[in-house]
Amino acid sequence: MNGRRKPVRLLALALAVAATGALAYALSNARQGYEPRQPILFRHARMAGPAVWEPNAQGEMVNVGGYDIPCLYCHTMPYKGRHSTVPSTAVCMNCHTSVGLGREWVLAMKAYWDRGQPIPWVKVHDLPDFVYYDHSAHLAARDEQGALKLAEVDAEGRPMVACQHCHGDVATSDMVSVQNPFNMQWCLDCHRKPEMAASTDCVVCHR
Ligand code: HEC
Ligand code: HEC
Ligand code: HEC
Ligand code: HEC
Ligand code: HEC
Repeated sequence: MNGRRKPVRLLALALAVAATGALAYALSNARQGYEPRQPILFRHARMAGPAVWEPNAQGEMVNVGGYDIPCLYCHTMPYKGRHSTVPSTAVCMNCHTSVGLGREWVLAMKAYWDRGQPIPWVKVHDLPDFVYYDHSAHLAARDEQGALKLAEVDAEGRPMVACQHCHGDVATSDMVSVQNPFNMQWCLDCHRKPEMAASTDCVVCHR
């Protein structure tokens, strides 16, 4: 990359943003808690959450919890590339050609599939284009001892997938919502933690 052009691009960025600064500030504060309505009631707690067995009215044990499908079964990319991905309906149809056909939202999903239309999922997280973010760099980062920086267990030793550091406990949520500010301050607060030892250079995130 041409080193001389970077300050120029940052200046252009600063000027462009000064014009819309107030709006950008308002938007960045509005981000946390955003929970868009989705075209299908797809509940992560039901697909990715832990099983909970309870007797039904007939005394039979039924799973009222989730089916424990691993995050990476559906979001295939976060360890490999910049972006994670939302699964195509084909992934859902691996099971739903035969499972859950009595359920309203499974039938609604199948109707999209039969029409050959993708499900128009609404993006929950969406950073501005001038920010560079890379999933795999975060999930692969290790300290000098070789331990993952975004640990698989929390401070009390309870198991957690690395995703929770930023996305919260998706596995027990019905709808996905933005669980953290996802603004520059939030990125920097974590990058500055001694145990993270991540860069705070402007060009790392604005390249
Ligand atoms: C059975 C497939 C499936 C599994 C398993 C699954 N997801 Fe999802 N995920 C989806 C679909 C479909 C969407 C898009 C609809 C939505 O946002 O609710 C989504 C959306 C998301 C989003 C928001 C994407 C955006 O638009 O910003 C995040 C974050 C996410 N999932 C994280 C996880 C995590 C963490 C796990 C594991 C605990 C997980 N998912 C397990 C299918 C799945
Ligand atoms: C590994 C198998 C598997 C995959 C993959 C899978 N599901 Fe499911 N899904 C199930 C099972 C099992 C049930 C429970 C069926 C029942 O209770 O009748 C279920 C139930 C559902 C329900 C109804 C449950 C509720 O919330 O009330 C919806 C909606 C659903 N799935 C959507 C999806 C979508 C959308 C995808 C793809 C992003 C997907 N599923 C992928 C196995 C799967
Ligand atoms: C260090 C914080 C962090 C961690 C850890 C993390 N994510 Fe994300 N995730 C983000 C950010 C930031 C975005 C928004 C990216 C954008 O808009 O360009 C995002 C977006 C997503 C999306 C929407 C699609 C996309 O890439 O824009 C999905 C799906 C997702 N993450 C799933 C996961 C899963 C699954 C894991 C765990 C394996 C995970 N994330 C771990 C920060 C994180
Ligand atoms: C929970 C802590 C955490 C959060 C939150 C976080 N990061 Fe990071 N980030 C890290 C760690 C750890 C690394 C890897 C540092 C290392 O080992 O080099 C990293 C590295 C990076 C890198 C360098 C990737 C590469 O190609 O080398 C970029 C770019 C980045 N982060 C952008 C962001 C952005 C943008 C956000 C906010 C949307 C963000 N990060 C939020 C912990 C975090
Ligand atoms: C760890 C990642 C990261 C680093 C390092 C970083 N930024 Fe940012 N920056 C972001 C993110 C994320 C946003 C988007 C904020 C939003 O939309 O809420 C942003 C937004 C901005 C904006 C738009 C105004 C605003 O606050 O929303 C400017 C200007 C900016 N950055 C300049 C800089 C400069 C100058 C540096 C170096 C001193 C820097 N950034 C370092 C992640 C980073």
